[in-house]
Amino acid sequence: MNPLLRLDDLRVTYGRVVAVKSVTLEVNEGQAVCLVGPNGAGKSSTLLAVMGAVRSRGDVLLRGTSTRGLRPEALAHLGVAMVPEGRHLFQTMSVQDNLSLGTLARRQGKRARIDERWVTELFPIIGQFASRRAGLLSGGQQQQVAIARALLSDPDLILLDEPSLGLSPVAVDAVFEVLERIRGVGVAILLVEQRAQRAIRFCERSYVLSDGEIRLEVTGGAVEDPQAVVEAYFGR
Ligand SMILES: Nc1ncnc2c1ncn2[C@@H]1O[C@H](COP(=O)(O)OP(=O)(O)OP(=O)(O)O)[C@@H](O)[C@H]1O
Ligand SMILES: [Mg+2]
Repeated sequence: MNPLLRLDDLRVTYGRVVAVKSVTLEVNEGQAVCLVGPNGAGKSSTLLAVMGAVRSRGDVLLRGTSTRGLRPEALAHLGVAMVPEGRHLFQTMSVQDNLSLGTLARRQGKRARIDERWVTELFPIIGQFASRRAGLLSGGQQQQVAIARALLSDPDLILLDEPSLGLSPVAVDAVFEVLERIRGVGVAILLVEQRAQRAIRFCERSYVLSDGEIRLEVTGGAVEDPQAVVEAYFGR
């Protein structure tokens, strides 16, 4: 059976800057997979390429079909949602209006796994602060709204770009609990993180990306050789 997502020798360049040299990876249905690596490794560029938000070479296959040439809106309608780095809520719009944007990408005729009730139960602050301007929420709360917005499209795959960045240890724990719930309803996760250990423990499959290339693949969440991860991470 085809994996839900396959990146085949993906390459991303910005003019003369080579951001991603070669990334080949797979995410199966319902699985959590992470891409860990240092600043500038090419993690965000990889996710943006999956979403069709930057041009790339190589191939992106969704259930075996190439998404070449498709724009982010089309990817959303195929069941891929993204929580970009830095949250990107509309700061002057209310929480509720930000969330409504997520619902727009929902697919017709499919029974939703995730709806408003599900996300409000997952994130009680949504019910509490529905009419508040998003810009007035704390960083951790905005992260929750950003994840909720992506989930409201009822995706099969959610891409998350460093959801724990800048959060307190307690808020980071909360993010991983949320990821567990998301995986629990069968939504596949492609997670980008600099916190390698935590992400690798959480995921069924992990890839270490350094300088635009996959250096190591770890399966099963157990890091048998921590030194190998460190060396792959720092590109040595
Ligand atoms: N729009 C752009 N134009 C030119 N170069 C870019 C652009 N975006 C990223 N780059 C470069 O591409 C490389 C990979 O960047 P990318 O943002 O994908 O890395 P990253 O792994 O997400 O890093 P970080 O952990 O800091 O978020 C870097 O060298 C970066 O400077
Ligand atoms: Mg990044």
